[in-house]
Amino acid sequence: MTTQHGHGLDSNTITLTRFFLAEQQKHKGATGELTQLLTSIQTAVKVISSAVRRAGITQLFGTVGETNVQGEEVKKLDVLSNELFINMLKSSYTTALLISEENETIIEVEPDKKGKYIVAFDPLDGSSNIDCLVSVGSIFTIMKKEDNSIPTVEDALKPGTKVVAAGYALYGSATMMVISVGNGVHGFMLDPSIGEFILIEKDMRVPPKGKIYSINEGYTHMWDDAVKEYISNKKDPAKGSPYNARYIGSMVADVHRTIKYGGIFIYPATSASPKGKLRLLYECIPMAFIMTQAGGLASNGKIPILDIKPTAIHERTPIYLGSKDDVQEVLDVIKKHDKSHS
Ligand code: AHM
Ligand code: MG
Repeated sequence: MTTQHGHGLDSNTITLTRFFLAEQQKHKGATGELTQLLTSIQTAVKVISSAVRRAGITQLFGTVGETNVQGEEVKKLDVLSNELFINMLKSSYTTALLISEENETIIEVEPDKKGKYIVAFDPLDGSSNIDCLVSVGSIFTIMKKEDNSIPTVEDALKPGTKVVAAGYALYGSATMMVISVGNGVHGFMLDPSIGEFILIEKDMRVPPKGKIYSINEGYTHMWDDAVKEYISNKKDPAKGSPYNARYIGSMVADVHRTIKYGGIFIYPATSASPKGKLRLLYECIPMAFIMTQAGGLASNGKIPILDIKPTAIHERTPIYLGSKDDVQEVLDVIKKHDKSHS
């Protein structure tokens, strides 16, 4: 029974936890550990959301004065978000191994807290956007450890076909979590008045074709000819109706817009970064999992992102992701160029 009362509150509201508890009932033999794990991520996300929104007031803006494993400046909010993810995941008693963008090596969960899942995450992506109040996000991917042995880095180097669940949190004009456990993509919005994520979009689908391209065009001089041709086509009225350019520079926001409105997001290889910038394990694989579950495509230009076998935890990959038709179009241009070179 659902009742909308005069005060706008729903007496039968579907929260994120409730939604996944119900999903869990559908699987015989499910232990509830995945729901428990997702609950711990929710807690981290709620605190990060609150911290992001109060950062200026509580002086969390700015750098800590150290650089992370990629040589970038670490912001105070990055540190807080990373600690939250690690602490919440460890204390959920569901994880064995954690991989964070902020930690050079794998993080082993203490034996007394150990569970069966492996989680790779970027606790606060797009952090260069924090100081000017542009959207940032968290990204995570969940895999299962296949045996009971002591976890090693090899356990984390699994292709996207082994992903059990993935998702992201977007700290935008509202806070939203978008999650897939392999049966479609579902969106939950944080209702700050009750501190709960509420199901607002069930079975999100990316339009098969969009009208937006999203790429850092300042790097045009460093792209290969196929990317140059594709983007130039998207601006040429002689080649069809020109696309709009939208690039936030925060992967979660750019990907979320792509799911909602359609189009393509590209972070290609450049002459300066032949493997692109974005990280396979905790940026590209989870976003590819979500996009694929929503009916879109995600490729490195040659093979699906989910088919890549990672060789290092901080490995990078070029990425072309979004609406099926748009990604297919750029892949066709790449194929044409590859042929003319061989
Ligand atoms: P970060 O992990 O250091 O925050 O960098 C990742 C971000 C992504 O959110 C975004 O898509 C990309 O970097 C933008 O990079 P660029 O400024 O080179 O276009
Ligand atoms: Mg990142």
